Amino acid sequence: MNEQPKLRWGILGAARVNERLLPAIVEAENSELVAIASRRPGAAAETLKKYAPQQRNDVKIYDTLEALLSAPDIQAVYLPMANDEHAEWAVRAIEHGKHVLCEKPMALTVADVEAIEAAARRQNVTVMEGFMYRFHPQHERVRQLIRSGLIGEVRTVRATFSFMMRPARRYRLAQNVEHGGGAMWDIGCYAIHSARMFFDEPPIAVTAMAKYVESGADISNSGIIDFGDGRYAHFDFSFERARRSEYEVIGTTGGLKCHTVWQLPGDVPVLSWWTESGQQCEERLPAANHFRLEIEHFSDCVLSGKAPALSFDDAKANCATIVAALQSAEQGRRIEVG
Ligand SMILES: NC(=O)c1ccc[n+]([C@@H]2O[C@H](COP(=O)([O-])OP(=O)(O)OC[C@H]3O[C@@H](n4cnc5c(N)ncnc54)[C@H](OP(=O)(O)O)[C@@H]3O)[C@@H](O)[C@H]2O)c1
Repeated sequence: MNEQPKLRWGILGAARVNERLLPAIVEAENSELVAIASRRPGAAAETLKKYAPQQRNDVKIYDTLEALLSAPDIQAVYLPMANDEHAEWAVRAIEHGKHVLCEKPMALTVADVEAIEAAARRQNVTVMEGFMYRFHPQHERVRQLIRSGLIGEVRTVRATFSFMMRPARRYRLAQNVEHGGGAMWDIGCYAIHSARMFFDEPPIAVTAMAKYVESGADISNSGIIDFGDGRYAHFDFSFERARRSEYEVIGTTGGLKCHTVWQLPGDVPVLSWWTESGQQCEERLPAANHFRLEIEHFSDCVLSGKAPALSFDDAKANCATIVAALQSAEQGRRIEVG
């Protein structure tokens, strides 16, 4: 019997988000976790013990990130480092010939995304920004409903992501926005990414406002993206509001809402819609693990030579929109998306 080919993964850093991604790599049918590295003594072994104790004897532990990148038995790396380390370490990994699944945001400037893209082309490796939520089947269902003409032509999107930040997570506000700290790079990038999904053209301009904490990180942020011809996306995200994780798409003849976009384990996927002709529906979808689906997609792309669902053009467009929104909030005026 032929065994399914598996992509051999290494994890670059003992980050907290491994709570979700490490089990996803272990569980994915077409993937194998080979190693994990951390710059802090004991942290990689601790992470493995915590999130995949059954793998303790099978997964190698490296004390340096370079050692993992030099390991010839690793084909792909998952890069969950701090936001301002992504660009440097993605390029380093690529130069070692590794395929890279890079946590969002891929980089903090469009120039850095371009540098990663250039390196990936030189080395002929696959690189994707880790917007895991997009691999949940509910978004394909939404797009199918919109393609069917249910709500007419899309005119407005509203994407909202918020929760009350626990004190243990305040480290996400320790850096200023230039160094990747704050709500925009952490959760706002999702809201903007999801809003962009519903417009074919790139954004023209952004108007935003933000509240900052002492470090220079934004803690609440709200704004409007102009897609031209009176089509707008409203984003609203915050670490100091009740939990919301949703988008709403308003067309010329109706509206549609995705109720739990950035899902936590146990969240039930619910879509609802209404039309001017009197339809009012709610649909519950089967639960799905978008982390595992993301890993399986990436492994499949590498193993079969397919382009990943999330492209460099998408990463550049998202980064350009974020940068414009941050500038707008800082300068208090509308900023064209460059
Ligand atoms: N897709 C998602 O659902 C999701 C969720 C959360 C975050 N993220 C993204 O994932 C990335 C990591 O986020 P995170 O919150 O998991 O970061 P984090 O725990 O702060 O880890 C980031 C890096 O800092 C080091 N580190 C971890 N704990 C540390 C500690 N106590 N003291 C000093 N250094 C420490 C680790 O490197 P070493 O082990 O080498 O020291 C790690 O690679 C970010 O890009 C974030 O945007 C994605």
